[in-house]
Amino acid sequence: MRQIILTGDRPTGRLHVGHYVGSLKERVILQNSGKYDEINIMIADAQALTDNAEHPEKVRQNILQVALDYLAVGIDPEKSCIFIQSMVPELTELTFYYMNLVTVSRVQRNPTVKAEIRQRNFEASIPVGFFCYPISQAADITAFGATAVPVGEDQKPMLEQCREIVRKFNEVYGETLVEPEIVLPSNSACLRLPGIDGKAKMSKSLGNCIYLSDDEETVRKKIMSMYTDPTHLKKSDPGHVEGNPVFTYLDAFCRDEQFAEYLPDYANLDELKEHYQRGGLGDVTVKKFLNSVMQEELRPIRERRAYWEQRKPEVLEILKEGSAKAERRAAATLARVRHAMMIDYFDGDALLH
Ligand code: TRP
Repeated sequence: MRQIILTGDRPTGRLHVGHYVGSLKERVILQNSGKYDEINIMIADAQALTDNAEHPEKVRQNILQVALDYLAVGIDPEKSCIFIQSMVPELTELTFYYMNLVTVSRVQRNPTVKAEIRQRNFEASIPVGFFCYPISQAADITAFGATAVPVGEDQKPMLEQCREIVRKFNEVYGETLVEPEIVLPSNSACLRLPGIDGKAKMSKSLGNCIYLSDDEETVRKKIMSMYTDPTHLKKSDPGHVEGNPVFTYLDAFCRDEQFAEYLPDYANLDELKEHYQRGGLGDVTVKKFLNSVMQEELRPIRERRAYWEQRKPEVLEILKEGSAKAERRAAATLARVRHAMMIDYFDGDALLH
C-alpha cells in the first residue's frame, strides 16, 4: 500500500516550540525518512474560520506566517505538498457526505470538541460549522488516502472519529476509504509542552509561548523568566523536577552531547536532575543551559525563516502550486466516493437503465 501523509495546522497565529516538539519536528523526520510516497501539509484556514468567522483578517494574515514556519523548520516543498485547505473545495463536498454518517451525540462526545466548547464559552451558541469540524477533518485526511497523520496528542480524538467514519463509509458504500494512523513523537515530554508560566499547555491565548519566529534575545529573556519550582527559594534548597517546566523543556530538547559542550560538570540530564533535587543547584545555571540548548535548535530555524522572508512571492507560488496539486489528489478520491455512493450520474449512462 502507498504510504501517504496528511497533516496540518490552523492559521490562527504563528507556530511555537510546543507545535515544534509536539509534531513539526516529527513531520520533518518522516519527510526525510524516505518512507513516504506522498506528503501533504495543509494550512487549515477553513477549519480556522469555524471559530473565527468574524475575524477573516486574522486567518488571512497567518497563512503566510504558518507557511514560513513550515519552511523554517525544514518542510521541503520539493518533498512535501504544502497547500491551503479552502483552495481545495472537494474537501467541503466530502464533508457534506460524511455528515450523514455521524450522529450529533457522537460529535458531542468528542473530548477535544467538548474542551474547546468550554474554552470558548460556546455552550449555548455553538456554530454548526465549528461543531462539524471533526467531520471536515476526516474529509481532509481521507481525501488524500492518508495512512499516517503526524499531529499533536490533542488530535487523538479527531483521528478516532475519522477512523469510525472510514469504517462506516466502507460498510455502507463498499471498500473505498483508507483508515489512518496517528503518529506521535516517541519522547513523552514532547507530547504536551507546558507554557513558560508552568501552565499545562503552551497557548497563544495564555501568552506563555516561545515562538519559532522569536529572535535570540526574546527567547533568552523568556527562558530566564520561566516559572520553576516555587519551593526552591535558595540555591541550597532541594528542588523538584516534576512539574518544573525548565526540566520538562530539557527533557524535550537536550541531548547528552550538549552537556560536554555547555555544562561539562554533568554527564547527562539525570545527573543534573539529581543535583537539583539534592539542593545546591541554582535555577539560573539550569536556565542558562536550557537557553544554550534551545538556541542551538532554533538557530537554523531562524536562519531558514529569514531566507524565506526575503522570498515571499516564491512562498506564495509554493502555496499556489501545492494547492493545485492537492486539488487534483482530492478530486481523484471524490470521484471514487461519488461512484461508491452511486451519485456519479453522468459517468456512462447507468441512469438510463
Ligand atoms: N485540527 C488541526 C489543528 O488544530 C488542523 C487540521 C485540520 C488537521 N485538518 C486536519 C490536522 C487534518 C491533521 C489532519 O491544528
